[in-house]
Amino acid sequence: MRWWDIEPVLALEHDLFPEDAWSRGMFWSDLAQARGPRATRHYVVAEAAGRIVGYAGLAAIDGTGDVLTIAAARDQWGTGLGSRLLTDLLQAATAHDCHEVLLEVRVDNTRAQRLYERFGFEPIGFRRGYYQPGNVDALVMRLSGPAAQTPARPEPADRREPQTPPRPASDPHPMTGHAPGTQGTQTHG
Ligand SMILES: CC(C)(COP(=O)(O)OP(=O)(O)OC[C@H]1O[C@@H](n2cnc3c(N)ncnc32)[C@H](O)[C@@H]1OP(=O)(O)O)[C@@H](O)C(=O)NCCC(=O)NCCS
Repeated sequence: MRWWDIEPVLALEHDLFPEDAWSRGMFWSDLAQARGPRATRHYVVAEAAGRIVGYAGLAAIDGTGDVLTIAAARDQWGTGLGSRLLTDLLQAATAHDCHEVLLEVRVDNTRAQRLYERFGFEPIGFRRGYYQPGNVDALVMRLSGPAAQTPARPEPADRREPQTPPRPASDPHPMTGHAPGTQGTQTHG
């Protein structure tokens, strides 16, 4: 993703995350951290017939990756685009020597959770009221070990109780430094 992709990405962003869409400034700010030898961000877009149909972003800091956002246009759902975007992020995590990758996902976003489970992400906790407005909890998921993996075949979702304590909802996000619960600062992945 480059700066000239931000406007079409924003159009998708507002369609797919109507309640807590990232602002133009947030994309600009993150893209500024995606270039150069000390880059801590990796952003990618997917194009089809000259149109941007998906995008995703990863933060990689001190050996930990964090899926900041991942989204596919509605007419692409179920085509494998979400899987390709996530594969790209995990390859970037490997390139950044990440030993784990974390993400937050709305507890009611079962479609995204299925995608993450196929890649081996496991639930490790909740962040209460992470998504505002709406006061929706986030499920925190983690993928450990070599980041770039082939997704397992779809199988029944693992609905185990979290094994480790969740981060307190008031903690700043470890990658973005943003305190959760402020509109527009939540991660989308
Ligand atoms: C989350 C999101 C990216 C997932 O996209 P998706 O279309 O479900 O994911 P994929 O493109 O990998 O498609 C997976 C499904 O397509 C099927 N599929 C078809 N062809 C496929 C292929 N070539 N490769 C992989 N899967 C394929 C899979 O079996 C799977 O089916 P299932 O969902 O019934 O198990 C998408 O729904 C989205 O953008 N949602 C809105 C934004 C959002 O919620 N983002 C996540 C925030 S945490």
